[in-house]
Amino acid sequence: MADAPVIRLGVLASGRGSNFVALAEAARCGRLGGEVALLVSDRAEAPALGHARRLGVPALHLDPGPKRTRLAPEAEHRYVGALREHGVRAVLLAGFMRVLHEGFLEAYAGAVLNIHPSLLPAFPGLEGVRQAFEHGVAVTGCTVHLVDASLDAGPILAQRPVPVLPGDDLESLTARVHEAEHVLYPETVRRFLTEPFAVVGRRVVWGAGERWDSR
Ligand code: GRF
Repeated sequence: MADAPVIRLGVLASGRGSNFVALAEAARCGRLGGEVALLVSDRAEAPALGHARRLGVPALHLDPGPKRTRLAPEAEHRYVGALREHGVRAVLLAGFMRVLHEGFLEAYAGAVLNIHPSLLPAFPGLEGVRQAFEHGVAVTGCTVHLVDASLDAGPILAQRPVPVLPGDDLESLTARVHEAEHVLYPETVRRFLTEPFAVVGRRVVWGAGERWDSR
């Protein structure tokens, strides 16, 4: 029997790109369950674009349109067009600083994931690590979730806790949350691509239901 085709993934990133690198490296080692076929950034100066070029991953800057916090509808169209041209079947948000709306989410229904630097539903929105640190929590962490039209509130696929240690400052805590993200995101993408799961209400139940691409 012929091998199943490799699942092609697209990553959207606005900044540093450390999660993009973790995903691309996991793919290169065969640990992601798919290959990273394209990186798209809304910021021409995003370091993520340079990382992609260094790693040999096709990379594009695409104009996000005039709004600061979302992709304009015509931009969503451009983004979906580029992802489709590259054969992308699922999209991984990795520090992408714009909310996606129907134009995008209907094109990639049930196939968009995000990573957030807190244990959701605590501290959604910007600067999740700072919010948790300033709140004085003893444990924070990171969350990988399915993306819907809400802000950081789609069904949770996985979480990883990070304790706040005596003597931590925002910088040291941020570094440990990032380390946790770089483990959690690739391992959750692999699970998402390879294991069946059901979404029951808000709960993701692994091992029940179907694989993501047969829903
Ligand atoms: C990460 O903390 C991620 O959780 C959040 O944005 C940050 C992106 O960091 N969504 P990087 O660009 O991947 O280094």
